[in-house]
Amino acid sequence: MKVQEIRERFISFFAKHNHKKVDSSSLIPHDDKTLLFANAGMNQFKDYFTGNAVPDSKRATTIQKCVRAGGKHNDLENVGLTARHHTFFEMLGNFSFGDYFKADAIKMAWDFLTVELKIPEDKLYITVHHSDQEAFDIWEKKIGIPAERIFKKGDKDNFWEMGEFGPCGPCSEIFFDHGKEHADKSLIPNKDGDILDDELRYVEVWNLVFMQYEKTPSGRQDLPNPSIDTGMGLERIAAVLQKKYWNYDTDAFTPIIKKIEDLSGKKYNDLKFQSSMRIISDHIRSATMLITDGITPSNEGRGYVLRRIIRRAVKHVQTLESAGTFLKDLVPTVLETLGQEYPQNKANQLLAEKFLELEEKKFLETLEIGIKYLNQALKTECENKTLKGSAAFKLYDTYGFPLDLTEIIVKEKGYSVDQEGFELSMSKRKEESKRSWKGGINDDKTAFFSTLEKHGNTDFINTYDKVESKLLEVIELEECDALIFDKTPFYGEGGGQVGDTGTITGDGISVTVSDTQKPVDNLHAHIVPKSHRLKKNLNYKLLIDTEKRKLTQRNHSATHLLQSALIEVLGDHVKQSGSMVNSERLRFDFTHMQALKISELTKIEDLVNSKIQSSLHVSANVMNIKDAQKKGAMALFGEKYGTEVRVLEMGDFSIELCGGTHVSNTSDIGLFIISAESSLSTGVRRIEAMTSVTAFKYLKDRDQILKKVEAATNSKDEDVVSRVQNSLKDIKSLQKDIKQLEQKIIRENSNDLFANTVTINDKRSLCIVDLEEGSDLKSLSDLYMDKNPDGIVLMTMPTKDKVSVLLRANKKSSVPCNKIL
Ligand code: SER
Repeated sequence: MKVQEIRERFISFFAKHNHKKVDSSSLIPHDDKTLLFANAGMNQFKDYFTGNAVPDSKRATTIQKCVRAGGKHNDLENVGLTARHHTFFEMLGNFSFGDYFKADAIKMAWDFLTVELKIPEDKLYITVHHSDQEAFDIWEKKIGIPAERIFKKGDKDNFWEMGEFGPCGPCSEIFFDHGKEHADKSLIPNKDGDILDDELRYVEVWNLVFMQYEKTPSGRQDLPNPSIDTGMGLERIAAVLQKKYWNYDTDAFTPIIKKIEDLSGKKYNDLKFQSSMRIISDHIRSATMLITDGITPSNEGRGYVLRRIIRRAVKHVQTLESAGTFLKDLVPTVLETLGQEYPQNKANQLLAEKFLELEEKKFLETLEIGIKYLNQALKTECENKTLKGSAAFKLYDTYGFPLDLTEIIVKEKGYSVDQEGFELSMSKRKEESKRSWKGGINDDKTAFFSTLEKHGNTDFINTYDKVESKLLEVIELEECDALIFDKTPFYGEGGGQVGDTGTITGDGISVTVSDTQKPVDNLHAHIVPKSHRLKKNLNYKLLIDTEKRKLTQRNHSATHLLQSALIEVLGDHVKQSGSMVNSERLRFDFTHMQALKISELTKIEDLVNSKIQSSLHVSANVMNIKDAQKKGAMALFGEKYGTEVRVLEMGDFSIELCGGTHVSNTSDIGLFIISAESSLSTGVRRIEAMTSVTAFKYLKDRDQILKKVEAATNSKDEDVVSRVQNSLKDIKSLQKDIKQLEQKIIRENSNDLFANTVTINDKRSLCIVDLEEGSDLKSLSDLYMDKNPDGIVLMTMPTKDKVSVLLRANKKSSVPCNKIL
């Protein structure tokens, strides 16, 4: 059974049991800074388990893309060495949010495996948490598994946690027996009743988690309702059904491995190359899926893990002894195997190819430097023929050398590596990496969630008029208060657009709103000073700062035009990777591999302005996400969209999903000017721009400057440029003349300058010269050497609080210098 059929069978099985199919979330966890990557199907449902949010269906089923590389669940180092660990994999899952519990979860899992997939019962084994007699009994009495095939295990194996914090609970795992030919150890309970695992023979295929607790910084609490989270590795179950031992031999991987064979000219069944081919096929899947989900290689956090994965893959491509690298050529095959389930990733194929090409090139450059560093380190960073751990780590971290590669190279030269030191440096680096993506854990959103639960959504009314609204809640924050009204004209920060400011009046009071945020979806929090004196349950009038909003939305609409213009001028690989829009300016970050040429910037600016002049009608319509996708609406990387989305259209030039506020016609934007273009990180560029009055003021200011230059150069318009260029040329040539004259004067006075000469021996003499600040040491020493080819000159010159010293002797002198000194 091919992987696609397994996906379909799983979803339709659980759909029959009233589960709603939910799309996989992005690999970048949405609104969860405690997690590096999506690592399990339950991540996107965290708030449903904790009761912070209410699902529209109490049963769900998903095929979730997962990456386990970095963070609590990290399989990176096992890849290629075991038959079934991957950095990227797909997890089939069914979930109950306070609906069914243990008995039903166990029954459905068993039926799916043994009835739907027809896996023989005697090939399956069960584990439960040692404290969970209830689960044991269900397996034994209700399902009929003989007790000797059920094993009790401890927290390490049978208590599942998503990360440092979050929902968790005891679990029960289902193992498949691949047969005794895979190992000679057996599944025997030890004296404590635990089993002696034989991971080579018995493979965990499905984990049923009985979610009962939530781990928070203050300890473990009960969940409001016991829930179910299950996860089955698609690649593992495919191996079972396709009667393969290695996941790499299933159709999830074979097309990729075949392509690697074609590109390298080597054979997978050649043992010399097999494990490298497996590692490449794993790593190219995660690299492709991470990039097409919006992560760019960098030196920290998620981007750092991605870069390491790519570099390891490049190293293994080299192991295949093929000419050149070819990671980017594997991307189409990867997306052929995965694109059907994840069309959004497939849509970004070009981006993955471009980033992989760039990273391969960069790594090959660093590889050469890395080898140089290694050769040097073998001389200076060794003790007792052992390379220091810190040096091995530098090779790993800076030059992307996996430890095993360093070991192979140094072994050939009779050295070894201090592994403990390496691990120590590694754990320090992990801490740093973790710190760079952690954070926000103290943002306690409980009060906002309970307000939402109590009062429901707070409506946003897109108007410049006053809105009368009831104050529902005053939430005290550290330095200010957050006011929640039943409806509001204040836009809450989102989609790059800043939150509104304005005033709240009523009851003889007027309070300034300094910002509006949406700490949880659909809840608008108006930020006011603590001294506000507004009372709950009273009605107030809410009025936004209209001028500011109008300016902001001009910039927001211009951002949409800019994105479409960038794609039209630069290509489809352009994807938004960040955006900020306020009343003054806009900032747009996007993927592109090199600096933009002036001609490209001009083209983009002209295109946006032409769309402003075309007076395109701007419309916003709420529609089903599928219809929006059919229309070709651009969506944000990693953004979580509901089934209903808001589609913003500007003529047929720009169609984007957006919840922000906009002009009603592009002509309202007035004018668009790009003020800067820069690099944000490798492959990510930033454009800063402005519109309407700000753009006009910017041009006006520059015009003033031009007028001043015209007056100073006594020229006009076009003539200014040639006048300035000619003046610069004149200055350069005059400077040259001055220099020559200076040299001439010095030469004439050089006898005095070089008078202080000490004879060292009969062949050579040393001349000591004290120079004034600003002298040209180099040309003066040239002068001395011209006159005294066998001499040595020592020059000193004060520069601010230091002294510059130049000591020079002629290399070609007939008397070698070291003989004298
Ligand atoms: N969350 C559990 C796991 O990842 C079950 O889905 O194993």
